[in-house]
Amino acid sequence: MVIKISGDIGVSPVHNLINERVQKIQISKIREFSTMAAKYKDVISLTIGQPDFNTPAHVKTAGQLAIEENHTTYPPTAGYPDLRKAACNFVAEKYDQHYDFETETLVTNGATEAIYIALRTILDEKSEVILPVPIYSGYEPVIHLCGATPVYVDTRNTDFKLTASALKQAITDKTRCVILATPMNPTGVTLSSEELEAIRDVLVDKDIFVVSDEVYSELLYDGKHASIAQKSGMKDKTVVINGLSKSHAMTGWRVGFTFAPSWITEQMIKVNQYAITAVSSISQYAAIEALTNGMDDSIAMRDEYHRRRDYVYDRLQAMNLDVVRPNGAFYFFPSIAKYGKTSLQFALDLLENARVAVVPGDAFSEFGEGYVRLSYAYSMDKLEAGLDRFEAYLRKIQ
Ligand SMILES: Cc1ncc(COP(=O)(O)O)c(C=O)c1O
Repeated sequence: MVIKISGDIGVSPVHNLINERVQKIQISKIREFSTMAAKYKDVISLTIGQPDFNTPAHVKTAGQLAIEENHTTYPPTAGYPDLRKAACNFVAEKYDQHYDFETETLVTNGATEAIYIALRTILDEKSEVILPVPIYSGYEPVIHLCGATPVYVDTRNTDFKLTASALKQAITDKTRCVILATPMNPTGVTLSSEELEAIRDVLVDKDIFVVSDEVYSELLYDGKHASIAQKSGMKDKTVVINGLSKSHAMTGWRVGFTFAPSWITEQMIKVNQYAITAVSSISQYAAIEALTNGMDDSIAMRDEYHRRRDYVYDRLQAMNLDVVRPNGAFYFFPSIAKYGKTSLQFALDLLENARVAVVPGDAFSEFGEGYVRLSYAYSMDKLEAGLDRFEAYLRKIQ
């Protein structure tokens, strides 16, 4: 039987035939809110988690050259060997993470698809996945698509960090995976080497995978990036995710990576094959350039984010907001609970009355209720003007 669905599936008599898990997941509230904010005039938006820098010129040229030189045919599913080699070399030099480019890495369509294939490969219906919350909205819908169950660990009273003791309490016989991210979205918090060591001590003798999202690893303001995969006994069960969206201002090119033992990688390649075949050949050529001649492209951007981080932190403190000082990425996650509004009411009111857009905290799980996320991937002028309006608004509703 061929079923033709036309128009609005919500009113079609066959709409119930859509996969139940797909029906249940939602479009990211971050996107939803930014799209809505864009409809207002004269709005200063501090919503987007996307670098406000251009892709470095030499990287763009490499992409143009790839087209000129007809590198426009199907690439290998795992990605071009030269790119895998460059990616492995990059993480080895920068973070002392060592992977074999032939068997332990995979080029993905951004970190987003890396998350998708990692979870698709690891999870089934019986799995529980531990999520430290509030958390980036890109994991939970995929967990639901796999039919698995998210188990939340509330980090609000531990400066948004997953602690070893909280993790221990959340583990059951069904725990298949722990999601770790450092630096984190939406809080900008990072896990130190010592904190990761304590988490390692809980996990090392358990049959539990770790998906370690390190897409902001180049944007760290104090100290060095640390990864759970570097801890003794952990590399063998960890999928490290990284990518070029944030480090090289390449969100539109869609290049990400997984780094994992060969026996996980060879399974993930199959999922990659049927999801996307391979990442765009043109983007891959640009990525080779980014990871070879542009190893340090992120430094100037990071320094500028650092300056903005300090500025925004001072401003939020002066507004008497309860906020954790972030050490990475480009977000602040202040509490707005004392104003007696939900995150959504607060963000809508701020938008309508002060023409500033921020993301309601519940976009990052229900544990983000009572907070809002501000991005500082915006110019200093914009930040200053946006924060002036924000401050005036807070004074009005005090
Ligand atoms: C923690 C985290 N992981 C992954 C992603 C997705 O990145 P990509 O553009 O590489 O798909 C984002 C994007 O904001 C993110 O914040």
